[in-house]
Amino acid sequence: MEKGKFIVIEGPDGVGKTTQSKLLCQFLQSKGIKYIYTREPGGTPIGDYIRELLLNPENKIVPIAECLLYASARAQLIEEVIKPALSKGYWVISDRYLHSSIVYQGIGLNLGHNLVEEINIIATGGLMPDYTFLIDLDTDIALSRIGRTKDRIESRGLDYFQKVREGYHKLLNEYNMILIDGNKDIEEIHREIISKLKF
Ligand SMILES: Nc1ncnc2c1ncn2[C@@H]1O[C@H](COP(=O)(O)OP(=O)(O)O)[C@@H](O)[C@H]1O
Ligand SMILES: [Mg+2]
Repeated sequence: MEKGKFIVIEGPDGVGKTTQSKLLCQFLQSKGIKYIYTREPGGTPIGDYIRELLLNPENKIVPIAECLLYASARAQLIEEVIKPALSKGYWVISDRYLHSSIVYQGIGLNLGHNLVEEINIIATGGLMPDYTFLIDLDTDIALSRIGRTKDRIESRGLDYFQKVREGYHKLLNEYNMILIDGNKDIEEIHREIISKLKF
């Protein structure tokens, strides 16, 4: 059976990743393409425990532990969910992947791009997406779109998110990401994403 396609939607908080992931899922559904949606961290029983640890604002977690926890949740997700789905021919839509770790922990928390990349190559076994979309948006606008209570990561200041945004730009070429302008309206971005996919 033909392997499914692995699509990752990346970008800072509030740029529209979840909105676009869901629209893409609806589109695949309408085309009769089998798919699964995963968000990070989480998506497995162990991953959901780790998610709670990572996002709870009461937890004090040192940067390297934060990095390793994300990598652990990702390793579980790949083995338990992503690889089995791809091998059954399902498409996988992942709301974030290892790029987030390189940017949020490697660059944002100064652990280093290379260190976090190496850890994640081990955690993922080198599994890379077929398509990675990077939604880019001015940091002020992105943060203003997060209406609800902020989690442990989202509570970090403007400087941190500015670094995160710039960090993504540094990854663009290395990871062959497709840059999407997050200022456009939701439907327009959706059409742009679909136009890049080969079916
Ligand atoms: N292109 C867009 N223009 C305006 N608002 C948007 C756009 N995309 C998403 N939003 C809104 O911004 C908020 C954050 O979107 P979301 O998809 O949750 O972002 P993320 O998953 O990247 O944090 C939501 O309220 C969503 O409806
Ligand atoms: Mg989201």
